[in-house]
Amino acid sequence: MAQVVFENVKKVYEKGVVAVHDFNLEIHDKEFMVFVGPSGCGKSTTLRMVAGLETITQGNIYIGDRLVNNVLPKDRDISMVFQNYALFPHMTVYDNIAFSLKRRKMPKEEIKKRVLEAAEILDITELLKRKPKALSGGQRQRVAIGRSIVREPQVFLMDEPLSNLDAKLRNQMRTEIVKLRRRMDTTFIYVTHDQIEAMTLGDRIVVMDKGLIMQVGTPQQVYGSPANMFVAGFIGTPQMNFIDAQLLWENGRYKLMAAGEIFELPDVAQDKLSSESRQPGDVIMGIRPEHLIIGDSGFPASADVSELTGSTANVHALVEDREIVSVVPLTSAAGYSAPIPGSVIHLMPDMDMVHIFDKSTGENLLAGSHKVAMFDMPDVNRD
Ligand SMILES: Nc1ncnc2c1ncn2[C@@H]1O[C@H](COP(=O)(O)OP(=O)(O)OP(=O)(O)O)[C@@H](O)[C@H]1O
Ligand SMILES: [Mg+2]
Repeated sequence: MAQVVFENVKKVYEKGVVAVHDFNLEIHDKEFMVFVGPSGCGKSTTLRMVAGLETITQGNIYIGDRLVNNVLPKDRDISMVFQNYALFPHMTVYDNIAFSLKRRKMPKEEIKKRVLEAAEILDITELLKRKPKALSGGQRQRVAIGRSIVREPQVFLMDEPLSNLDAKLRNQMRTEIVKLRRRMDTTFIYVTHDQIEAMTLGDRIVVMDKGLIMQVGTPQQVYGSPANMFVAGFIGTPQMNFIDAQLLWENGRYKLMAAGEIFELPDVAQDKLSSESRQPGDVIMGIRPEHLIIGDSGFPASADVSELTGSTANVHALVEDREIVSVVPLTSAAGYSAPIPGSVIHLMPDMDMVHIFDKSTGENLLAGSHKVAMFDMPDVNRD
């Protein structure tokens, strides 16, 4: 069993920089967990504390049932792939992958078996005799991953392993990592600042900001029912629209007023708000671009530029000086004509998909009550 448990973990660097505040998390055995967040939020620091490359200022980290605070990196049964993987230039791919096993004085036959297996998983069998300089960026990254695989660690740590690759290669390698994961019986902790990577790879995602956990959940949960405005704005492109609004209480029901229009809230939202006795007042309405439909009713808005992506048109518009975006799905880009900039359009939010945020704390007042979050939930361990 290789679950990884963080108990009140804190990291303070010299000069008092607090990189990680009170971090509490339980990563299950064989789970693929992704840490995502903006630059400097403490992702690498947290990962490096698991690896034993950084000391823990306060709290405890367990790998399996073992408290590892004072265990040396080499004795933690982990293996880490970095963004800047350095291969030995004078060694062949085979020797690069075999390096750590040779150092451990593993029998030659066993080394060969493991290297060939890893090479097959990563589709680099043909390259085993080459030197790194004769490889492409993606192939080199595979070798770096191969070097980690052969150690058969209990926990696989990856810190932005794809960020040095170009967009196309990154997409390709992302798929490779999904396949790799399917073939390996290991717990993964994967760090990225790329929310698409987080959404596509993670069984669960930890969204971090400024050394704090903002939300832990499945991709569906963080996307469909973000805990707060930070998560709502960080996950999803184009970004969720935020519109100043007022929560009203009229005739025993909550309503939302924004840009002069009054919108009815669905029953689930009513139940959630009344169960917590929410007071009417200023709030922020959040609505994803794909849930804002251009039609005959809704917010009056002034159309701005439209971007054609091929499968969608992203229509920008101004609602009371605030720029918002509506995504229009297209079956055929050829027949589509975007609203003329400057013209008045109407944008109707799908009220089942609306979020309401507390204006001062950013907390999502409807967290957990959205359809997407309640249905279609995968098991934590996908396989
Ligand atoms: N060795 C160090 N000494 C002092 N401060 C550090 C050190 N390493 C990191 N920090 C600080 O700790 C905070 C978290 O850094 P960390 O590298 O964990 O962020 P990150 O989320 O991995 O960011 P990025 O996406 O840019 O890699 C930052 O404010 C950073 O400046
Ligand atoms: Mg980092």
